[in-house]
Amino acid sequence: MTRWSWIFLIVPLAGPAFAEGEVVPGDAVTGEALYRAHCAVCHGIEATGHGPMVTALTVQPSDLTTLVARHGGEFPLERVTSRIDGRDPLVAHGSAMPVYGNFFEGHDVALKTETGQPLMTSQPIADLVAWLRTIQK
Ligand code: HEC
Repeated sequence: MTRWSWIFLIVPLAGPAFAEGEVVPGDAVTGEALYRAHCAVCHGIEATGHGPMVTALTVQPSDLTTLVARHGGEFPLERVTSRIDGRDPLVAHGSAMPVYGNFFEGHDVALKTETGQPLMTSQPIADLVAWLRTIQK
């Protein structure tokens, strides 16, 4: 190998790192409005799992303010997103949690997961997730 070809090998490794941060952040204000319209009936206005529909449910809605606390201090983005859009097999196999995949249609927004992998979802779900992040205890 010549002296010059070494330079081409080394330069890409020393190049700038990829930009950090969320690719397309959701809008928490829109997320809160969506939450109140579609989720509060079960999870409650405060998102602690005490919505007016609770008495009619056999499975109790989760407290959505303790997602981080219940998942080792990290927001479980992948789990939350797949619960909302119905990709989680638990939802597909008959959970009390309705499937919103079609309602919040689209996989055009990329969120960054705990592992750094992008997760494709729709803008309404990205907004909901942005709001859910703000209410963690
Ligand atoms: C018909 C009642 C109902 C509605 C409406 C509802 N949920 Fe749920 N949800 C549940 C129940 C019951 C559970 C707990 C059982 C389960 O996990 O399947 C749950 C679980 C969840 C979980 C999993 C929490 C965890 O601990 O991992 C998330 C996240 C969630 N809901 C978000 C939402 C969002 C966001 C909306 C609105 C788009 C919504 N839910 C609307 C009943 C509901």
